[in-house]
Amino acid sequence: RAFLYRLWKGNVSSKMLTPRLQKAMRDYLNTNKHGVRFRGKREARLSGHQLLCELRRRVRVRTLDGKEAPFSALGWEKHVPAVPLSQLHPRGLRTCAVVMSAGAILNSSLGEEIDSHDAVLRFNSAPTRGYEKDVGNKTTLRIINSQILTNPSHHFIDSSLYKDVILVAWDPAPYSANLNLWYKKPDYNLFTPYIQHRQRNPNQPFYILHPKFIWQLWDIIQENTKEKIQPNPPSSGFIGILIMMSMCREVHVYEYIPSVRQTELCHYHELYYDAACTLGAYHPLLYEKLLVQRMNTGVQEDLHRKGKVTLPGLWAVSC
Ligand code: C5P
Repeated sequence: RAFLYRLWKGNVSSKMLTPRLQKAMRDYLNTNKHGVRFRGKREARLSGHQLLCELRRRVRVRTLDGKEAPFSALGWEKHVPAVPLSQLHPRGLRTCAVVMSAGAILNSSLGEEIDSHDAVLRFNSAPTRGYEKDVGNKTTLRIINSQILTNPSHHFIDSSLYKDVILVAWDPAPYSANLNLWYKKPDYNLFTPYIQHRQRNPNQPFYILHPKFIWQLWDIIQENTKEKIQPNPPSSGFIGILIMMSMCREVHVYEYIPSVRQTELCHYHELYYDAACTLGAYHPLLYEKLLVQRMNTGVQEDLHRKGKVTLPGLWAVSC
């Protein structure tokens, strides 16, 4: 519990994690699988408001538009949706909910509150059926990693989870964001199932995030963290928070920073226990959470009891 209380105050470091998680982090630092070469400075001096202004200044959600090689030569301009993600809600959304898949959301009774938002973001294969009381049943947008598209166990083609929602997929690319290299050797080949799905469902908005957007978020996390963070992409959760902050006037994030219900249960919909799901091993999740904690404008009571963080939309911040 001591760790949780310190996390609520933003006063934790990786040194307080279990030796197993610390070793996992060190191993990822040594492997540097994606060839990260950070050129900036690492410091943690910005206030929450300054951080928000930094994000407003720099973060631009970007998806593949098919205009760059190798996608241009492959005719992707015709394959991607005609309307860009950033223009799907041209007048912007008022309130948005980001629902993390953490086990801690079980028994929260947050479903009704979550569904009262204009838009609700969920992740990967997180279901609503059977969990409505705690997570609600409205889904506007779903962020999916490349394993969802490629692993047959997720039934991407026919599961109702991926129908009637805006889909945003991503895959870890090299830090250089060299699209040719990435296309030849994605982590999981999402390109083929993406094109297939676009052809079968031309009216469903479905995007692939541009690697530059993902690594720009990573740079911002590292620049605002004293410690060296894992040289791997931010988690889907952090990516989703920033997408919603770009599209909504106010964003409520649920069970990202854990509530008093904190548990090692990885997902609310799966009997699997691992503290790494909440604190990070591959992803720089702990550091993402510390930044979000700094930017939280909500009251402590909401954080403790609901695991709820309030963030202003980037265009609602005055800088
Ligand atoms: O595991 P998955 O990536 O599908 O979960 C979606 C997001 O929810 C994660 O990327 C992470 O940001 C967040 N999460 C969390 N704590 C957990 C499980 C997920 O913060 N126990």
